[in-house]
Amino acid sequence: MASILVLFGTGEGQTAKVAARIEDTLLGRGHDVTTVDVESLPADLDIETFDAILVGSSIHIGKHHEAVREFVDSNNEILNVRPTGFFQLSLSSAVDEPEQQAEAAQYVGQLPRGQAPRLVSGLPL
Ligand SMILES: Cc1cc2nc3c(=O)[nH]c(=O)nc-3n(C[C@H](O)[C@H](O)[C@H](O)COP(=O)(O)O)c2cc1C
Repeated sequence: MASILVLFGTGEGQTAKVAARIEDTLLGRGHDVTTVDVESLPADLDIETFDAILVGSSIHIGKHHEAVREFVDSNNEILNVRPTGFFQLSLSSAVDEPEQQAEAAQYVGQLPRGQAPRLVSGLPL
């Protein structure tokens, strides 16, 4: 059993729904899961205590949620030594055309330098 943090930033709640689904799946596999909205980070949250960290954000006007970018930036050191995954929701992910898919992929490249998610998933939501 692993202790997993699922941290997300959302505008209208879609990313929160995906985070909840991820949480359900991980709980069903016997993991210990903590899911938090980046806008309501508990003061005592210590990300070093987690075995793995999943970070999710939607795209609004070409950018990830600002607080998610700040979280990734300020926790870069620990994110680069833990197993991590990044999930992203964007309209462009939903359009099955090379240009739109390329747009969705380039958003990931906007994450702060040094962050190298080992698993990236763009969800068409
Ligand atoms: C104000 C606004 C701006 C958006 N800008 C983009 C964008 O630049 N590129 C894109 O692919 N999708 C864009 N979208 C689509 C969202 O990424 C998509 O609807 C996502 O599921 C929203 O998730 P959320 O409710 O967690 O924020 C935008 C949506 C809204 C409401």
